[in-house]
Amino acid sequence: MKYNKRTHNCGELRTENIGQRVTLNGWVDTRRDLGGVIFIDLRDRYGKTQIVFNPQHNGKTHEAAGDLRSEYVVSITGIVEQRPDGTANPNLPTGEIDVAAGELVVLSKADTPPFAIEDEIEVNEELRLKYRYLDLRRAPIQQNLITRHRMYQVTRSYFDELNFIEVETPILMKSTPEGARDYLVPSRVHHGKFYALPQSPQTYKQILMVAGFDRYFQIVKCFRDEDLRADRQPEFTQIDVEMSFVDESDIFMMVEGLMNRMFKEIKGIEIKTPFLTLTHKEAMETYGSDKPDTRFGLKFTNINDVASKVEFKVFSETIKKGGVVAGFVAPGCASYTRNQLDVLTDFVKKSGAGGLVWMRVNENGIETPVEKFLGKEILETIRQRMNANVGDLIFLVSDEWSKAYTVLGALRLEMAKRLNLIDETKFNLLWVTEFPLLEYVPAEKRFVAVHHPFTSPMIEDVELLESDPQKVRARAYDLVLNGNEIAGGSIRIYDRELQSKMLKLLGIEEDEAKKKFGFLLEAFRFGAPPHGGIAFGFDRICMLLMGEKSIRDVIAFPKTTSGMSLMDESPSEVDPEQLKELHIKIV
Ligand code: AMO
Repeated sequence: MKYNKRTHNCGELRTENIGQRVTLNGWVDTRRDLGGVIFIDLRDRYGKTQIVFNPQHNGKTHEAAGDLRSEYVVSITGIVEQRPDGTANPNLPTGEIDVAAGELVVLSKADTPPFAIEDEIEVNEELRLKYRYLDLRRAPIQQNLITRHRMYQVTRSYFDELNFIEVETPILMKSTPEGARDYLVPSRVHHGKFYALPQSPQTYKQILMVAGFDRYFQIVKCFRDEDLRADRQPEFTQIDVEMSFVDESDIFMMVEGLMNRMFKEIKGIEIKTPFLTLTHKEAMETYGSDKPDTRFGLKFTNINDVASKVEFKVFSETIKKGGVVAGFVAPGCASYTRNQLDVLTDFVKKSGAGGLVWMRVNENGIETPVEKFLGKEILETIRQRMNANVGDLIFLVSDEWSKAYTVLGALRLEMAKRLNLIDETKFNLLWVTEFPLLEYVPAEKRFVAVHHPFTSPMIEDVELLESDPQKVRARAYDLVLNGNEIAGGSIRIYDRELQSKMLKLLGIEEDEAKKKFGFLLEAFRFGAPPHGGIAFGFDRICMLLMGEKSIRDVIAFPKTTSGMSLMDESPSEVDPEQLKELHIKIV
């Protein structure tokens, strides 16, 4: 079809253009018919411009405009004019002008869309995902993808300036031990053999260090078949980084520099460096989480010393078994009713605790169901230890270390929500370090690596590897933003002996190790530099910087929580012929 190509985009015209003959191409956003004069807003990704069809200017064009509907794609040529007094729209950058249409060409008609292309819509997400191309026409989502694009550019220029090399690593590869389930791809040529999609490029980036690349980064897709949530997708993007001849401080400096640049360029915010560092133990014992949200207080106090001396068995027995009694103060909550407290007790029980001890600090003393077990004096000691004042509510949980703090962590978040304590304008970044190296899995009767099997133990803990493996801390670190894990990494093992020891501990026999990542162990035989790295969850950083609640809103074509792509309906069945070629039978 012959049509005039645009001279300007739909967000560009201003009063300086008045009198010019212009052509705009775009989508019909809205159409209004006001007493014979037809107005449309023409939209593209740059903005909207009002077009006026006046029967007195051009009768034929005006008549054609009567047939226009939302989402028609059109080309319009006309003269830019000042809007009449009192009709300017101060909310629109092009709001001072309109275009008096002379020519109109309909390039493409459109069916009525299943939802309106507006900034705020009340439509279920499944419909939005099915018609994602329509959803992607909406300005807020377009803005997210444009910001995401800028974040790629910031990342690339930052690393380029610092001498990092971007290297692409394979998508069809051998399974990496990141801990999730693999997505497998059958090989047609090699019967019964499979590639795995990368859960991360972990092994390749370490091999790049052996190859001497010394500073590597990559913006890369990773694939993990795990339960999905608002901050998890089966395929997601990492900014993956590895460096040679470094320790933790070099990695932290590099990451803080990137975050600093990102916040400045994307949000116009100056963030403070270096970031706060908490050990895993401190994070758990203060906030009950390995990714603590530090935008509010409600910090914990451990009262083992007081609780170990009381007759109350729930406390003293727990402590005897090595557990803890700890809790926090909910300010101003002494007025909570029995019913509200029952709801919170149920909440902690659902999170795995045996129960919740509460204490109302009233004018005339402390009111608690455990008064008869503790006595007034101990209650007063606890109040003082916890710094609680009249009007406050004390929560205590008594359990094994990890469970007690995890449950308190969940309750802390719940109370912050109820008390509206979270300042959404804040961005709190911090490091969590010294994670445990190993975790015992009772069902499998063996240890697994908390991070991955190439993570180095802390030098001072190496001796414990044999005597008390659970106590060994890892040279692993996570970067946390407002209670979200946005990056994780570690200093790696590059020493063959230590690596074998580690694999033995994990119950990975030599044969199995050879089969799984023999190529990496083999590479380490030929001169491996000390190295370490980190990977950012890029979608999560986008989500947090853009103030979204789900990473689906910052990904062009996301999957649902059941791993479906509703637009193209994948996963889907395949041709029996294809299966036959792959020697696969569906049973
Ligand atoms: P890790 O497994 O911690 O480390 O992953 C790094 C970061 O990726 C993000 N992330 C996800 N984002 C969205 N959907 C998912 N399913 C998902 N899974 C993880 C998180 C996480 O912090 N190879 C190591 C890194 C290293 O040691 O250098 C790794 O992949 O934000």
